[in-house]
Amino acid sequence: MAQENAVLPDALCWHEFSWDGPECQSFPGTVHMDKSLRSEGYSTFSVIISPGETSKTVATISHLWGEFLAPGMERRSTVVALGGGVVGDLAGFAAATYMRGIPWVNVPTSLVAMADASLGGKTGADLPQGKNLVGAFHAPKMVLTDPSTLRTLPRAEMVSGIAEVIKAGIIGDPELYKACTQGWERIEADWDEIIPRAMSVKIEIIEADPFEEGIRAVLNLGHTIGHAVERLSNYQLRHGEAVAIGMVAEARLAEKIGIAQHGLANEIKDACTRLGLPAEVPAEMNLEEIQEMIKVDKKRSSAKVKYALPVRIGEVRPGYEVSDIEAILNGGFDMSIILVLHGPNLNLLGQREPEVYGNLTLDELDSRLKEASEQLGLEVRTFQSNGEGALIDALHEAQEWASGVVFNPGGYTHTSVALRDAVASIGLPVIEVHLSHVDAREDFRRRSLISPVCVGKISGFGWRSYLLALRELAWQIKGEV
Ligand code: DQA
Repeated sequence: MAQENAVLPDALCWHEFSWDGPECQSFPGTVHMDKSLRSEGYSTFSVIISPGETSKTVATISHLWGEFLAPGMERRSTVVALGGGVVGDLAGFAAATYMRGIPWVNVPTSLVAMADASLGGKTGADLPQGKNLVGAFHAPKMVLTDPSTLRTLPRAEMVSGIAEVIKAGIIGDPELYKACTQGWERIEADWDEIIPRAMSVKIEIIEADPFEEGIRAVLNLGHTIGHAVERLSNYQLRHGEAVAIGMVAEARLAEKIGIAQHGLANEIKDACTRLGLPAEVPAEMNLEEIQEMIKVDKKRSSAKVKYALPVRIGEVRPGYEVSDIEAILNGGFDMSIILVLHGPNLNLLGQREPEVYGNLTLDELDSRLKEASEQLGLEVRTFQSNGEGALIDALHEAQEWASGVVFNPGGYTHTSVALRDAVASIGLPVIEVHLSHVDAREDFRRRSLISPVCVGKISGFGWRSYLLALRELAWQIKGEV
């Protein structure tokens, strides 16, 4: 400590703690720091502030300016912030504004401050109208973290703080994320690795974009919805708890708009709940309230609400405007169901002219499609019949539950007016598929009665004709052009 601070001519230490009367000197952290700085020849004194967000006011800042002046702090003096995020914000802002700015050093002692709040140079205070409405970018000369200080942290604070570590993993460090999925024992055995990794993710981003002009917005992952639920809970939810809820909800949005694979939100939810974080929007909050609260924030910034959304673990992209956020509630959105319909003789796949139709059996083909459908965020239901009537019935019934149909009408392609009429009447997007390249075969196969009433036709790629059709339907359903 003393060596690290060797450049400091004077130092002011303060710490946030439960104020119940004792003098600040009785607080071991402050005493320890005072002592080590004094033994190196610095003159120090401490100021203590009451814990919690309620202290983050302009009144506290003004009080601090007074405390700085009294013992004669001048432009060469340095402020040392010893405490959690609130202390860092206040100390940094007081340092940023005292005598037009003096240096400061941040010694975060909470997990959320170590992993997130201490980095990036944001300092400030709240106004009665809202959080962080006044402040300045004023980077500390040094951030000094000592994981052993976490031993004194209340459990609930620790759990809340780990949300920012999970967030760092999702943004840019899959290994860190993986460590978080392995439970508290693994995490607590490795603070010396975990905290620097979480810090590195943020440092890399803030170095690339110090004033939040672009990529830095990825750090807002989980915060657009998280802030809304945090405020709606009247701050009964801790910041990290709200961020966990927000990350899961925003991953659901990413799935819904098709930039993330189905399953990502549940994966993040499992990681959060395993560490004791909540992951669902509290039952007493409804979608309208959340939307309203997000809009309040939007009005304040006079900009459109833009989400930073996860694409996969290790990649988050900023700048998504999502108008329909219904998917965030009730465990997600209903998956679109696609009917894959096979016509006559396709039950013989595998044994039927393999040189034309390949070696795959119908069961194998169907299970490949089901596998692929999960990644596309679709549910696939398959049906085969040799009978024209059964195929027509299947198309009619699909109107009730399907969002689209992938249809190989087999030999009926070339002959069936009745199937053509069924496709035309159900009002669902239908893609005609064929395993073989029908247009390069006999003349009669070039004629399709079905094609004109389908949204498109794919043929000649074996079982992958079906896969291509599924992909296309997934894009169409998600509204991608
Ligand atoms: C087929 C092509 C049709 O011409 C033929 O009658 C079939 C299979 C195909 O998938 O290539 O049964 O639809």
